[in-house]
Amino acid sequence: MSGIDAQRVRTRHFAQAKAAGRKISVLTSYDALTAGIFDEAGIDMLLVGDSAANVVLGRDTTLSATVDEMIILARAVTLAARRALVVVDLPFGSYEVSEEQAVTTAVRIMKETGASAVKIEGGAEIAPTLRRIVDAGIPVCAHIGFTPQSEHALGGHVIQGRGAGAGKVLADAEAVQEAGAFAVVLEMVPAEVAAQVTRSVEIATIGIGAGSATDGQVLVWQDAFGLNRGRRARFVREYADLGETLLAAARAYDADVASGEFPGEAESYR
Ligand code: KIV
Repeated sequence: MSGIDAQRVRTRHFAQAKAAGRKISVLTSYDALTAGIFDEAGIDMLLVGDSAANVVLGRDTTLSATVDEMIILARAVTLAARRALVVVDLPFGSYEVSEEQAVTTAVRIMKETGASAVKIEGGAEIAPTLRRIVDAGIPVCAHIGFTPQSEHALGGHVIQGRGAGAGKVLADAEAVQEAGAFAVVLEMVPAEVAAQVTRSVEIATIGIGAGSATDGQVLVWQDAFGLNRGRRARFVREYADLGETLLAAARAYDADVASGEFPGEAESYR
C-alpha cells in the first residue's frame, strides 16, 4: 500500500505525506517495462538515477553518466509511469560549471523526458544553483550525506555525518530546504543523524542507508531484487533473487535449444 494517497503523485504530496506520518516509497528505474511494474505496485517515486552508469551500463562509478544517456532512460520511464512521480538525476559535469549550465541542463531534461523533477547532489555549496533551477519552475530533489558523484573527493564509499560531521549534514539539509527543494535524499548517514534531520526540516527526507526514521526510503532496484550479483551494501534488503531466476531460465533455454526441445509444435507456425 502506497504512502502517498493520490491518483497521480505530485511534489506537493511529499510534504503532505510527511505531515500525515505516511512513508514514501522510492525505487530507481531506467526502462519502460520495470517502470510499469513498479508504478503498478504503487511505488510513489521513480528515480532515474545516474546509478544507471553502474547497474545498467556496467561502469565502476556514476561519474561517466551523460545527459544524453539519462534522457534516453528517463524517456522510457516517463512513458510507462502512470501514477509515480518521475525524477531524473543531473549527472556529474552537467551543473557544476555555472548556475546557467545547471538551469540549461535541467530545462533540457524536463523538455526531452517528460519527467516531473530533477535531483541534484550537494548541500549548502549547491544551494544557490538549486535555487536557480527552482526559480526556473523546475522542482528539485536534493541529495546529501554520501554523494556518489563526489566519491573521489570523499575518499570512497564513506558514511557521512559521524561525530562532528553531523552538524554539516544538518546544515546541508536546512540549506537545500531554504533553497526550495521539495525533498532530500539522505545517503549513508547514521540513523540518529537522519532522524534528527527528519525532525528538523519540513521537506520529506528519503533515506538510503539512513535508518528507519526518514520520511521515505529509496533503493536501487537491481540491488533490492537480486539482479545485481556483486557485493551488497549493508543497507540493502533483498526482496527477490532475480539473478538466480534469470540464470536458471537462461540455462533452461540454452539446454532446450541444444537438445532441439525448443521450439516445439506450439511455438511454430503452420
Ligand atoms: O543514482 C541513484 O540511484 C541515486 C540513489 C542511490 C539515491 O542517487
